[in-house]
Amino acid sequence: MCGIVGYVGTENAAPILLRALRRLEYRGYDSAGAATLYGGVVFIKKDTGRVEEINARLKLESMPGAIGIAHTRWATHGAPTTINAHPHTDCTGSIAIVHNGVIENYLALKKELLDLDHALASRTDSEVIAHLIEEYLKKGVELKEAFRKTLLRLEGSYAVALVSSQSPDTILAARREAPLIIGVGKGFNMIASDITALLDMTGEMVFLHDGDMAILTPDSYRVYRIDTGEAVERPVKTVDLTIEMAEKHGYPHFMLKEIFEQPETLRNSLRLQIEYVDLLAELLDKGRVIYLVGAGTSYNACIAGSYLFSQIARLSTFPVIASEFIPNYGASIGVDTVILAVSQSGETADVLSALEYARMRACTILGITNTVGSTLTRVARAYVLQNSGPEIGVAATKTFTSQVLVLAKIALRLARLRGKIAQYEIDEFNSWMEKVPSIVHDVLERVEEPIKKLAERIAESRVVFMLGRGVSYSTALEGRLKLMELSYIPCITYPAGESKHGPISVIENGVPVVFIAPPDEYRKLNIGSIMEMKARGAYTIVLGDSSDQDLKQLADHYIEMPKIHPLLSPIPYTIPLQLLAYYTAVVKGYDPDKPRNLAKSITVP
Ligand code: M6R
Repeated sequence: MCGIVGYVGTENAAPILLRALRRLEYRGYDSAGAATLYGGVVFIKKDTGRVEEINARLKLESMPGAIGIAHTRWATHGAPTTINAHPHTDCTGSIAIVHNGVIENYLALKKELLDLDHALASRTDSEVIAHLIEEYLKKGVELKEAFRKTLLRLEGSYAVALVSSQSPDTILAARREAPLIIGVGKGFNMIASDITALLDMTGEMVFLHDGDMAILTPDSYRVYRIDTGEAVERPVKTVDLTIEMAEKHGYPHFMLKEIFEQPETLRNSLRLQIEYVDLLAELLDKGRVIYLVGAGTSYNACIAGSYLFSQIARLSTFPVIASEFIPNYGASIGVDTVILAVSQSGETADVLSALEYARMRACTILGITNTVGSTLTRVARAYVLQNSGPEIGVAATKTFTSQVLVLAKIALRLARLRGKIAQYEIDEFNSWMEKVPSIVHDVLERVEEPIKKLAERIAESRVVFMLGRGVSYSTALEGRLKLMELSYIPCITYPAGESKHGPISVIENGVPVVFIAPPDEYRKLNIGSIMEMKARGAYTIVLGDSSDQDLKQLADHYIEMPKIHPLLSPIPYTIPLQLLAYYTAVVKGYDPDKPRNLAKSITVP
């Protein structure tokens, strides 16, 4: 996730762009930059670091011109370096672009451009856009059409804005599966990734549709369809929000905003560089022993991953809590050990200590992280980025669901590589993965209100049980972690089959027991466990398929879920539990964004 903004008008563009960049920083903050146009020349300043630091060093606000574009970056392709920071230019330096999204076919496009003698400076996917436009311009195509033709060549997602010395009072912009909004002003127009970047200049906004491109001048804006080039009308809407409300997209907390972002973040996580996924799959396949190492939520994702690797790829792996890795396995690891570390931040001290220990013993280290340039990306032989964008809430939400989806994707590539399951099973699983973002969208629409009511009941509880079998054990663990860290209610989780080996003695009248019961091979056993708990007075809350009448009748409180492949169920089934933790904290008067005693990244052992 990155933030983009553009201004064309009569005032100096740079101070306006700088203000907007500060507001867009929540979308990415590893580097930033701006391009302005003045006297037929494109001026560019960009660097790594936070917007404020870059401005102090480079004086972005003093850039000349009444037109410009700017970008704040959350790296997905290419490390956070000055060269990889946006804007990017063509070979002549007369076109500058900023881009948010992922160009999936950039390697092929880059090769084509290199064969045509283009000099590409960065390692980003975005830079190809400027060079493709240059190529069309060379052939005599005019700028708007060169832009459109370029967009038609791009696979993946983009919100892109462009300035060119050929057209000194015009910004071109377009979007596909990434947000982009026009701000309409008197004597100026703007374009930005979200309304927060526009609100101090104007409340009049045009919300572009997927597949729209726009041409902005100081006193006009026109919208066209990218596929046909035809002009279309898009209404101007008046946005009546304060900047503070808009920063959270109208949500009261970042956590709730991030929960609702999941259809988008999951779509982004499906767009992984397949070359890197394949590399991870190949290296995993070579290991004699494979450990999945993480802490907190990332450890819960590792548990889901071990079920996925086993059942989809027929590969045994051991999920390990990072702080226990050295004491438990340190003595037995060696050159034939592979460690797949999962860490949102890539900086968790317990994970890094385990990796350093393993590195000294010649193990192969692999990673899944949300943070380019993090220590994990430097120590890993190969890594995959989960593409969830920055997560501000201390509780991990969107990053968990993305991690599970990335692990599922790796498991599927491993299955292909190892030839252990039939082609039709691979195809079926793949098509379920593609459906995950829309299934999650559906869950968000249907469960929020019932969960709000349930939260009032849970907020009164002194202890909560959260149980699941098979891969649902990981869902239960994640639901429990969310509820405990946000509502401070002690919560007990174990694989449901363990109840009778001890924990059931805690159950007394009214104790809430949440069962994660997707329609899988454990359905009958789950029914047995639910009856066992009910017989001892538990208040049973069951998450199950909307068509399962037996479960519905049995449960004291039933949360209806849409159909999903059971092995992917941790993704949608975690959503009601995230909402439950959030609303329980709110009912109890706690701040879900800043739970007590916790920090976003735990960088001490
Ligand atoms: O950045 P990481 O994924 O390595 O962080 C691991 C944990 O510290 C993190 O998941 C933590 O447990 C969160 N508070 C969970 O919501």
